Amino acid sequence: MKLRMVLLFCVIALGLTIAACGGGAGGAQPAGDRKGDATKGKTKFDGTCVSCHGPDAKGLPGLGKDMTTSAFIKGQTDQQLVDFVKKGRTANDPANTTKVDMPAKGGNPALTDSDLFDVIAYVRTLMK
Ligand code: HEC
Repeated sequence: MKLRMVLLFCVIALGLTIAACGGGAGGAQPAGDRKGDATKGKTKFDGTCVSCHGPDAKGLPGLGKDMTTSAFIKGQTDQQLVDFVKKGRTANDPANTTKVDMPAKGGNPALTDSDLFDVIAYVRTLMK
């Protein structure tokens, strides 16, 4: 009887340990909490987005929009913005405001989700 109690205790303890590990270290980050690295984002922004949005993200005339005062960007989560940039916004999209294409991933298919989270983190530092 006593041995069975000890065994039972061991099984429960083991179960708790596994549950604790599963929820903590090594687990994937929940999508909503993902945060990019603004320093890495600057390099990627300067490599791709800068050609239309300008070095300070204020937008170049006839090319890209000012991101620093964008109510659209303010109203979106990082995840939503990454999804937006992956898709872009073509000139014939009803949501398009300038009749100029925002190409998917700024026209740079090499950018990964993680790169885009970094770029968004950087853009947020330029916001007014
Ligand atoms: C070839 C030019 C071009 C490049 C490169 C480009 N964009 Fe754009 N982007 C645009 C245009 C044009 C718009 C405005 C679309 C519209 O009129 O609604 C826009 C709009 C946006 C918006 C929405 C702003 C708003 O207020 O509606 C975001 C966010 C954005 N771009 C992010 C990026 C990021 C991040 C990159 C780099 C990965 C990038 N863009 C690269 C042209 C570009």
